[in-house]
Amino acid sequence: MRVLQESPFWRWTYPYRVRRICREQMPLPFQHLTSTKQLSRSDTDAILVKAKEMEAVVAKGEANHVLQGKILASLFYEPSTRTRLSFESAMQRLGGQIITAEGIQFSSMYKGETLEDTIMMVSQYADIIAMRHPEQGSADRAAAVSTVPFINAGDGPGQHPTQALLDMYTILKERGTLDGIHITMVGDLKFGRTVHSLSYLLGLYKDVRFTLVAPQELRMPEKVTSFYQEHAVPYTEVESIEEGLDADVLYMTRVQQERFEDKAEYERLKLKYVLTAAQIKGRDITVMHPLPRVGEIATDVDALPNAAYFREAGNGVFVRMALLAMLLGKA
Ligand code: NCD
Repeated sequence: MRVLQESPFWRWTYPYRVRRICREQMPLPFQHLTSTKQLSRSDTDAILVKAKEMEAVVAKGEANHVLQGKILASLFYEPSTRTRLSFESAMQRLGGQIITAEGIQFSSMYKGETLEDTIMMVSQYADIIAMRHPEQGSADRAAAVSTVPFINAGDGPGQHPTQALLDMYTILKERGTLDGIHITMVGDLKFGRTVHSLSYLLGLYKDVRFTLVAPQELRMPEKVTSFYQEHAVPYTEVESIEEGLDADVLYMTRVQQERFEDKAEYERLKLKYVLTAAQIKGRDITVMHPLPRVGEIATDVDALPNAAYFREAGNGVFVRMALLAMLLGKA
């Protein structure tokens, strides 16, 4: 608790003007969240302000049961630990309940049921749906038929909007601002959905710039670099982590083994970039990672104050509490 109150974020509040806009904007101007491209800066600010309120409620041990009587269907057709558990924890912390389905092999999709049929049915069992699915575009297909609010919890190499929101919240908490942030993204920028979603969101803020570090084969896709260009967001592509260490945030990612057809290529690329404590010791750079890590951050980094990745995972609960409450009109 003391740590929380002493952090610059805890003392920091949005100016009155932003808080007023946030109040006027609630509830969010959409029913489903499938992509960070849907979010304006003021939508994002509103979610972050609400997440901060949720964090305060949890920190004080107060009860907030605004979602009592509501049910979340958590459908995870691809492996997940943090995202699923933090959605479920968020729902339960708000007094709601959960029903779950896990793994395509255990669901009716294995028997050949279409995603659309599954979602139309689940819409009748729950008040809100969070789904992770291995196919890019599956979230939009599901949202198109869902009769209750639908949240994309990761669609293959496509998008992961709630991770991006918790990443934004983490940057704000760790650095005290989103404007002016220089972020270096490292690793699998091609298949990593978190870096795509985060780029679209952070790119809405003022004077943000990106340094991208990836093997040639795993460079940031054109859909994201064209977004930087359209929004006049400066970015540079470099070959080594060292060239990106003068940033505020170092966002490490895992090489996404499950997206590779050629396993030998995965083996060749998986540990191309490994961050060690010696590289960042004494630097004012915040190290983030959506997790799980599989070797790209050495464990000696964990003891440094720079290591924010476990705090980042914890923030997922507050951000998802905010989003669930807002999408259900209970914020
Ligand atoms: C990420 C994901 O699923 O995209 N994990 C997460 O949600 N925390 C990153 C990853 O799996 O590499």
